[in-house]
Amino acid sequence: MEIKAIGCEPLQLKRMHVKDGHTLKVYEKTGGYKSLKKALEMTQDDIINEVKASALRGRGGAGFPTGMKWSFVPRQSPKPKYVVCNADESEPGTFKDRYLLERDPHALIEGMLIAAFALGSECCYIYFRGEYNYLIDIMDKAIEEARKANLVGKNILGSGFNCEVFTQTGAGAYICGEETALLSSLEGYRGHPRMKPPFPAIEGLYACPTVVNNVETLTAVPQIIEMGGENWRNLGTEKSGGTKLWSVSGHVKKPGVYELPMGYSNLEKFILEDCGGMLHDDKKLKACIPGGSSVYIMNAEQIIGKNVLMDYEGLVAAGSSVGSGGFIVMDETVDVMESTKNLIEFYKHESCGWCTPCREGTDWLNKILKRISEGNGRPEDAQLMLDICDNIEGKSFCPLGDAAAWPVQSAIKRFPEDFKNWLFRNTNGN
Ligand SMILES: Cc1cc2nc3c(=O)[nH]c(=O)nc-3n(C[C@H](O)[C@H](O)[C@H](O)COP(=O)(O)O)c2cc1C
Ligand code: SF4
Repeated sequence: MEIKAIGCEPLQLKRMHVKDGHTLKVYEKTGGYKSLKKALEMTQDDIINEVKASALRGRGGAGFPTGMKWSFVPRQSPKPKYVVCNADESEPGTFKDRYLLERDPHALIEGMLIAAFALGSECCYIYFRGEYNYLIDIMDKAIEEARKANLVGKNILGSGFNCEVFTQTGAGAYICGEETALLSSLEGYRGHPRMKPPFPAIEGLYACPTVVNNVETLTAVPQIIEMGGENWRNLGTEKSGGTKLWSVSGHVKKPGVYELPMGYSNLEKFILEDCGGMLHDDKKLKACIPGGSSVYIMNAEQIIGKNVLMDYEGLVAAGSSVGSGGFIVMDETVDVMESTKNLIEFYKHESCGWCTPCREGTDWLNKILKRISEGNGRPEDAQLMLDICDNIEGKSFCPLGDAAAWPVQSAIKRFPEDFKNWLFRNTNGN
């Protein structure tokens, strides 16, 4: 398992290989909490402007500009404001946040404290997926260390700023990674998504102004304050600032977590050189899902010889997206009908059942793909599944519906041969 930066100095991965990097002592020795001290002497507007200048975009999947999200919070509101870290990390193929939580917990605490100070909040929550229970101990110890050092709690470093940080765990439901479902779960209710608008920035946790950000988004904040927003942005591109973590799995020799500057050139080189190339030398690249299971799957023709840039704009232009950076590589031994069936089983299981298009649609897709895999495919099944996807996409209550439709649509369109092989087989398996 590789954990390293390519094409840039490690920033997010700075402490991944430092002994005891999770402790306050080593964190401070390696530059930690300097940014908080700097931020406490800045105005709230200046902090938000630095984050805007950095072109940091949310690393949880949607890529929304972080500075803009922060600026939507009505700071003058008499209600309490909350900063919530989304540490649910449930997107299939995504496993970057767990290393930040495990090996650099103070970076997250520092990022949250800066966000809280900028937004006038005195209370932060970190919401962990149920399976990350073991990481809560690490985070609770880090919070305790920070409290003893007057970095968390009352009158932080004599600045007059008060802020508490709490951990909370879900019960392992994918939908609780969706920010409004997360807030419902955090309040103790069933994790159903909420209507938007109102957006959490206006009416979030306990109907108060709330910013929800991904772990990697928040751990970037101390870097931005330290080096200045523009310098951080210049590590990447004009619209996709800084560096980004990619969790790489599948048929490569060196799976792991890689930090790349945004706009890294290029996707083909990343797979075939940086990640050690294909796992088996005699097997060719067939497919790649670059941003977690919820983005369009790409075929080799979209990658090889195409100079696909690894940032928000580059991957969209190439026919997919950055998503959560869950990077899954498949060689020619993979049957894309079967891999799509596995994914749909997941979405069907994780659909919260609240709205009809997603609840019924994922169930029908699952039934059809199961029937196909049992050798009972019909020539009209491809069109039938595309029609069902059409009835899910854009018609569901929350983005989980779209996330279930996109992999199926792109798999059928980009790997027609894999489906044809199954659909024109009769029940006798001929
Ligand atoms: C079904 C679903 C699951 C999601 N899971 C996660 C997750 O595990 N972690 C995460 O940070 N964002 C997840 N998101 C995105 C969040 O709704 C939200 O956009 C994000 O936490 C905002 O933080 P950011 O702006 O820093 O990306 C998910 C979204 C959906 C629709
Ligand atoms: S789209 Fe799916 S997950 Fe989202 S509310 Fe509807 S049923 Fe629930």
